Amino acid sequence: MTRTRGRRTLEGIPTLEVAGNRFFNIDCVAGARALLADDSIDLIVTDPPYGIAGDTLHQHYNRNEDFVVGGYVDVEPGQYQSFTRDWVAEAHRVLRPGGSIFIVSGYTRLYEVLHALRTTPLVEVNHLIWRYSFGVYTSRKFVSSHYHILYYAKPGGRRTFNLESRFGRDEKAHHGGSANYLDREDVWSLPREYKPRREKNKNELPTELLVKILQYASDPDDLVCDFFLGGFSTARVAIGLGRRATGFEVAVPTFQRRGAALRSVTPDGLLATLHPPTIGVARNRSKRWDAAQLAALHDRYGSLREHQLTKSAAVARLGEEFGRGTFAILRALKRIDAHASARRPRTPKRR
Ligand SMILES: C[S@@+](CC[C@H](N)C(=O)[O-])C[C@H]1O[C@@H](n2cnc3c(N)ncnc32)[C@H](O)[C@@H]1O
Repeated sequence: MTRTRGRRTLEGIPTLEVAGNRFFNIDCVAGARALLADDSIDLIVTDPPYGIAGDTLHQHYNRNEDFVVGGYVDVEPGQYQSFTRDWVAEAHRVLRPGGSIFIVSGYTRLYEVLHALRTTPLVEVNHLIWRYSFGVYTSRKFVSSHYHILYYAKPGGRRTFNLESRFGRDEKAHHGGSANYLDREDVWSLPREYKPRREKNKNELPTELLVKILQYASDPDDLVCDFFLGGFSTARVAIGLGRRATGFEVAVPTFQRRGAALRSVTPDGLLATLHPPTIGVARNRSKRWDAAQLAALHDRYGSLREHQLTKSAAVARLGEEFGRGTFAILRALKRIDAHASARRPRTPKRR
């Protein structure tokens, strides 16, 4: 074993390097102990094996096994607790103060994962529910259609949470509610990806889910680690979003086949697919309007409408100019109207 700048390297560990990012074919606990320095990772996103007896996993997660890479390593149910405690302790050690971890967990092993988290100083940020469509069909009980995502952080530093990375605070959803608020509710409805006739790991996380986590919880160039790489989905999204990536996978066929597929990833390639948020922080939010501002708003609205802007385009422009949200502008215009009509002389009724 040799040491390089606080991080050690283990000779003989099969390593894959893609666009300057390194991944290791080794058990994650041994790999983290050997290769990751304390406080070195900005974000961990990971989906550990579910401890539900490997051979039956396909019945839960994939409809057709033909394109699933074999070799998935599961954990014996009786060992799940100690296995989880070991890797969660390593995750805590390598996270930087303020760094975050998102752990995807089915309900069967949720107890062990929560228990392990609570043996560390990691603090809960959110307990998210990922609701997916097409759960496994059952006829004598309810259909299971959710996973848990445990979002925790290491105390002692500033946690990255990019509030307006996907929707500006004033952006509206189709039906008029706040898109930013709705996107940040703790139940996420996102479909799973079935990838028919494409090679895959047993249970690959959807790109959309990972993009959402990484947009909120990491910045460009941050180092994102996945302790259980599987199909390298976290790594693929991290590199695609201009983050750095690393991680571990113990299964040889999975590491070799799915790792080779990672070579096709384009660094920053996902950036062009993102919805650009309208960062509309209303700088005068909650401040009272004075008479001069109301008069200016009235004049400006009249002038924009004279220049053929539609009402909603004019209101959006006024929101930017006056540092207010859409509803605040609409309410103020209504107030001006009401005031003007109250002052208008009444036409006497004809007798
Ligand atoms: C649920 S899958 C991960 C799926 C992955 N998130 C994806 O989107 O493809 C869990 C993976 O962890 C691997 N694994 C099991 N035990 C491991 C260990 N001790 N260290 C590293 N990887 C392990 C399994 O072989 C499997 O590929």
